[in-house]
Parts: sequence; structure tokens; C-alpha cells
Amino acid sequence: MCGIVGYIGNRDSKQVLIEGLKKLEYRGYDSAGIAVFTDNGLEIRKSKGRLANLEDKLKSEPIQGSVGIGHTRWATHGKPSDVNSHPHTDNSSKFSVVHNGIVENYLDLKEELGAKGHTFVSETDTEVISHLIADEYEGDIVSAVQRAVKRMRGAYALGVLTEYEPSKLVAVRFASPLVIGIGENENFIGSDIPAILEYTRNVYILNDGEMAVLTRAGVELMTTEGDIISKEIFHVDWDLVTAEKAGFDHFMLKEIHEQPKAYRDTMMGRIGADGKSVTLSKEIGMTTEQIRGISRVHIVACGTAFHAGLVGKTVIESLARIPVETDVASEYRYRSPIITPDTLVIVVSQSGETADTLAALREAKRNGARVLAITNVVGSSVARDADDVITTWAGPEIAVASTKAYSSQLIAFYLLGLYLAQERGTIEQAQVAEIVEAMHRLPDQVESILEQAELYKGVAEAVSKHDNLFFIGRGLDFAVAQEGSLKLKEISYIHSEAYAAGELKHGTLALIEDGIPVIALVTQEDLYEKTLSNIKEVKARGAHVLGIANAGYEDEVAKSVDETFSIPRTLPLLTPALSVVPLQLLSYHASLARGNDVDKPRNLAKSVTVE
Ligand code: F6R
Repeated sequence: MCGIVGYIGNRDSKQVLIEGLKKLEYRGYDSAGIAVFTDNGLEIRKSKGRLANLEDKLKSEPIQGSVGIGHTRWATHGKPSDVNSHPHTDNSSKFSVVHNGIVENYLDLKEELGAKGHTFVSETDTEVISHLIADEYEGDIVSAVQRAVKRMRGAYALGVLTEYEPSKLVAVRFASPLVIGIGENENFIGSDIPAILEYTRNVYILNDGEMAVLTRAGVELMTTEGDIISKEIFHVDWDLVTAEKAGFDHFMLKEIHEQPKAYRDTMMGRIGADGKSVTLSKEIGMTTEQIRGISRVHIVACGTAFHAGLVGKTVIESLARIPVETDVASEYRYRSPIITPDTLVIVVSQSGETADTLAALREAKRNGARVLAITNVVGSSVARDADDVITTWAGPEIAVASTKAYSSQLIAFYLLGLYLAQERGTIEQAQVAEIVEAMHRLPDQVESILEQAELYKGVAEAVSKHDNLFFIGRGLDFAVAQEGSLKLKEISYIHSEAYAAGELKHGTLALIEDGIPVIALVTQEDLYEKTLSNIKEVKARGAHVLGIANAGYEDEVAKSVDETFSIPRTLPLLTPALSVVPLQLLSYHASLARGNDVDKPRNLAKSVTVE
């Protein structure tokens, strides 16, 4: 977790660092800090809490210089506090380090350095890194960093400065993202591209085990073994405006409204010119024979991306007739999954940097599986490590609560399911055409739900007064219920559970009491009557039921529930791409009604780069 940024040039570095940190706050906002070379040497300012606190501190304790590093923190080792904030330094105060990641062996290193006389002020693993580099320093910061990282186990993206060599900024990466921005007589580092996009569109994306030495004049790239390397410059052609709120009150609301575009963009170029077939041959390098040889699929992801995978399972099983298992990534590696060379492992990750997902991906590859990534970030670690990549063209997602990334992942799964089915011969062309035609209608159908967005405000306000509620559904409705429940929990802090509607009676029904809200998804028409029976069970125990039903069925559903919301009708398989939208709006308004920070919910960060 955490975001890092760095600058070396001729500008006031503090401005560049603060602007960069604003773009990175989504990665964590427990504290922020900067270190800058000033006329007095290396000076540090840091502050617990949001970046605004640091900005206030900089007003009363100004700092001026043209080389610096900055950090925004999501606490892992040590509570959020001024002293645990980055940048960290050593006892000589001549070295300064910002770090994203976790040093697993930091306690051993701390003990060893302690025995040599180093004393520590914080509880963090990062402080140990600054001491380690100081300890290894023999007049050359580059080789000191190389020796230090050899002794570290874990994940890191580091920005390092030393007062002994004030015209150098050293950056190094292993298992945490890091990009280098190339300017004219100035250069940058950042945890991601938006952090530096205001200043340059030319970047190097570092791989694991690579480092960069930045001066004003240029950037030298090498491995941590010291071998000089060259890399192609990646030119960024998207603009910063896409990462701004565009008139909406919150990024989350903006991103909910961007879903029609995200659907269109994700489908673009992947539907055959005849409009009746799907082509992913650019994304998936497997031959027809290899696709026919897939014996099983594992879908592995975390959180919301995992919920997209639950829909993906049904899509692939029903269209391509391949057995699919789904796993949360943090469990996958440790359950010794049966992975064979004919297993296709699909990892799903908006950010492409989630540590658990990345670890699962690597485990799958080690076991010989082919790995296909569905990700929203081109050039992310997941994208680079996978064999094949389907990019979801949702655009940057800033709100911590994922919306358009999730729904674009669904579109990616529909395309993938159809493509695999075509290649395996498990689908008739007419059925592909029917599904593709229905997919083309989805963006307009989402628009029509969004036109009625205000409808969800009142009901969300009522829901926000409760501390517990349930989401129920069967089949794909259950998969979407799980996403709806997570969305509500993470931004409104209301406890909720998603239940397979038919499973309630096996225990959980005991929790249903007078007035408790139950949100029932009733969109799967073949399961419709069964779900209505389950709704009756909760109604009979006093629940207040809100039903989400397909257009044409709302009157019938209305007879069994207290309030009904209808969504446009589509094919059952595609319904999740519509039914999730009311649930996103409901969570958004419930969070607002509770006065929460919708875009930056407590305890969470956008990109979880620790296991
Ligand atoms: C919830 C949310 C998280 C992420 C999860 C995986 O709204 O966004 O549950 O889905 O942390 O993140 P990615 O998709 O970046 O791997």
C-alpha cells in the first residue's frame, strides 16, 4: 500500500510532491510526508492524517528546494502517527527513504542494526531500510541501495535521497509498482502515472529487480545487480481530466455514470465486423487447439473483482462448458489447488497491483498454468506477468469503492465466455448473435437506470438508519447480491450480509426481525418463483423488502415486496451488468446520508499492495 513520489529538477519540489501525492491519496491516507534538500540539508515534514494536514504544516514550517521525495501512507507496520509517517531517516539524518510495500524480515534486520548501535524511533519496517542503506553506505548511494535491497525480503518501491550526493534520486522496485517520468532537465518517480502526468507523458515502467538513478540531466536504468539496462519509453496518451470529477460531487458518482461508456469502450474492437461474433485473438495468444484443450478454469481475485469472477464462472460454464472454480486470491496459494498445464487461470484485478492476486498469478505460473489477466491498468504488474491480457477500458477509477471497473469486468467475462465458446464449438452462431445484440443494448439500458438515479436516494436514506440488513438472490442474483453487500458495507459502514435466497432458512432466518431491510434481487426469470417464496419467508418474519425486478415483472414482484425498483429486461446472463447499478446508487446515497467520506472510506485504500 502507500504511494510514493519523487522529483529532481529546478522547480520548487514541494509543489510537485504535493500535487503528486494528491493523485496518490487513493492508495492510503493515514499520513503524508515529504523530504527535501534545502540550504540546511535534508529536511523532513510529515503529518498524521490527510494530506491537508501536511499542507497546513508546510505553511507554518516552510521548506524550499528542488529535489525531494514524498509519501502517502496506508498503515501496515505501526499505527498512523507522525513518527510512523514517511519519509524515514537514519541516526545521522543524512539519508531519507519513502517506501511502498512490506519488508518481511525487518525485525531481524532491526535487531542486527540495533546491535551495531542504530537506534530507532518508529515502529515501521521502512525506518529499518533507511538505517540499512546508511549502514551499507561507503561513498556511493547506488551500490549502498543495491547491497541493502539484497538483504531485504518482501515488497518495495523505494525513493532514496542522501545528503552526501544531493544531485541524485535513487528509485528501486520489487513487487510494488513504480514508474519513472522523464522531463527536460527534470525527472520524476511515482507509484503510478497520474502522480506525474501533469509534468510529463514519457515514462519508464520499472520491473521487479530494476532501479533508476535520476539526476537533473537524465535517468540511468539498471538492475539491482548493477547491470545497465535500456527500456522503451512508454508514451501516455490519456489526459488528467479523465481522472477528475467532471462536475459530479464525488468520484464514485462520476464513475457510476461512466459505466455506459466503459461498456462501449470495453466491447469496442472485440465484436466482429458482422456484429455477430466476438474476437479476442489480439488479447489471447492461444490457438484454437489450446483453447479446446483447456480442462478447467480457475478464477482468482479479491473483493469486488472476485465478485465479478463469480459471474464469470456462470458465464464460462454455461457458454464454453468448462468447469470453473473461483477463489479469493489470499486463499488460493495456500489450499494447494490442482493446477495442470491445461488449467487456464484467470486473474481479475482493476489496479493490476493487488499483492494477493499477483502472488496467486505467480503461483499459477510456477505450476505451469496459462494465466489470463482481466485488468484496468495497462502496464500494471498483473498485466505484465500474465500470458494474455484483456484490458477493461473503464478509465482510471479513483473512488475506493469499485463500480465501473466491476461492471467492465463483467463485460470482459461476457466477451471471453463467447470467445472461448466459439473456439470450442460449444455455441451456435445464432446464440452468439443474440447475446452480442443484447450486449450492444446494455449501455443505453444503464443510461435509463441512471436517469432515475434519484429514485434510490429516498430508499437509501431509510436504509441508512439501520445497522444491519440483508441482500438475497438466487443464481446470478446471488453473485450480484454479494457485490451489493460489499459496496454498502465499505462506504456506509452498515453491516450487511448477502445470502443465497434459498439458504436463509438453514440458519440465518433467525436474524430476520421486525423492520429489518432485505434487498431482494429477482431478475433471474427461471428462478423467479423460488425467489418469491423466499421473499415470503422473510416478509412473514417482519422484514421490509425492497425488490429489484425486470421490467415487465415489477407488478408481479410488487405483490410480494414493500417497494419495487425495475431495471430494463435483458438476457438472464447479462442481467448483472444492469442489476448492480441500483445497488451502487443505493450504497452511494446511504453513505452520503450517514455523512461519510464516500470516495475515501475509513480503513481502506484503492490499491492493496500488501498480502
Ligand atoms: C471494493 C474494492 C476492492 C477491490 C479489491 C481488489 O470496492 O474495490 O474489493 O476490488 O481490493 O482490487 P483490484 O481489483 O485492484 O485487484
